[in-house]
Amino acid sequence: MRQNTLFEQHFWKDSNRSLDYYLQNMNGYQAAQKVLKEMNPDQVIEEVKKGNLRGRGGAGFPMGMKWGFIPKASEKPKYLVCNADESEPGTCKDRQIMRYTPHLLIEGLIIGSFAIGCKHSYIYIRGEYVNEAKLLNAAIEEAYEKGYLGKNILGSGFDLDITVHRGAGAYICGEETGLLNSLEGKRGEPRVKPPFPAVSGAFGCPTAVNNVESIANVPHLIRMGGDAFAQLGKIDKSGGTRLISLSGHVKKPGVYEIQAGSVTLRQIIEDIGGGIINDKKLKAVIPGGSSSPILTADEIDVVYDVEPLMKVGTMMGSAAIMVIHEDTDLVKLLLRITKFYAHESCGQCTPCREGCHWMESILHKILHGEAKPTDLDLLVDVAQNIGGKTLCALGDAAAGPVISFVKKFRPEFESYIKGQKRYA
Ligand SMILES: Cc1cc2nc3c(=O)[nH]c(=O)nc-3n(C[C@H](O)[C@H](O)[C@H](O)COP(=O)(O)O)c2cc1C
Repeated sequence: MRQNTLFEQHFWKDSNRSLDYYLQNMNGYQAAQKVLKEMNPDQVIEEVKKGNLRGRGGAGFPMGMKWGFIPKASEKPKYLVCNADESEPGTCKDRQIMRYTPHLLIEGLIIGSFAIGCKHSYIYIRGEYVNEAKLLNAAIEEAYEKGYLGKNILGSGFDLDITVHRGAGAYICGEETGLLNSLEGKRGEPRVKPPFPAVSGAFGCPTAVNNVESIANVPHLIRMGGDAFAQLGKIDKSGGTRLISLSGHVKKPGVYEIQAGSVTLRQIIEDIGGGIINDKKLKAVIPGGSSSPILTADEIDVVYDVEPLMKVGTMMGSAAIMVIHEDTDLVKLLLRITKFYAHESCGQCTPCREGCHWMESILHKILHGEAKPTDLDLLVDVAQNIGGKTLCALGDAAAGPVISFVKKFRPEFESYIKGQKRYA
């Protein structure tokens, strides 16, 4: 299930992050060399399309297609921006890449920048990742010293600079246009689309924004070839492996790599995660970051991949799996999640700005025994009036958990309203 991992076998050892390790054990910079010496930008984009590499930031957008949208004829500078904001609760896989295989990310940026004609690439990293920003900067310095970055990379005539830009700890700056505003020194508020970043992104220029894991997959894809990379995906039109962030009530939480489509959620929890702590009973699973609709314990025989999860009404998102055992109070948990989204809403769109606080306030009343019987339907009604009515998907992220928690665990909410259960 997890032999021959592309990433995981290189994690957890500090010494692995050096350029020497990368060159000796990971075929370091060979894919960049191949691209710069033997391929043209269109061929790179075609190869990435062949590999069915889909974005790992949450939406699963095909990466080759995104790169193909960057207008070649434009006289303006073009930008490849790496989204290292990693702020969806439960998600911590990009951190592993930046900590242990930073040169993989740098090499991916070289290849992607060549493909879209970018000469200056940015890594926008969440403010809390202080150490990871330092490690990235150290790896970038090493790459400059050895001629993998800067002018005339590997004698190819191609130039590239990379700048690491630290955020200041706002979830909304993970949304790609909020990120671009923040990168430009403005408030991190999502933009109206269109125009999409491919036409008008960073500094008004054509821009591709890609997640860390998406970009770090590119050297693997080029090295093994698009066809072989595509074969790694089992059922969906999605090539490569997936890094999952497994957290909550499992015996062995961590970041693991799987062949998506080859395992069920149950196998992930039991075989990879070692089962539930203290051998408690499973109650629920949040399968793709805190914004993904919750699943009950009866629903975990689903194959862990994009389409099967969609069929059961949820999503793979950022592949952050949160496991919840029988002792967990789901009303408290939902209030915690909702507080997060209410706090992180940028306030630009009324349904999200007002609605998230309404949901928080109703949940607070339910938990403290102050709610009326009609408040539960009011809560769902507010959530339904946020989803799909905002400039960015933060509104949907906040509404999804509320709707699914109430739908699947309604009696738990009702027992607070009826006074059968009290907040402790
Ligand atoms: C509120 C919000 C937060 C987001 N946070 C992140 C994030 O932390 N990291 C990320 O890669 N994508 C995040 N995204 C998705 C990005 O907008 C974008 O789709 C992604 O960076 C594209 O990269 P990909 O195509 O490689 O997946 C977020 C989206 C929304 C709506």
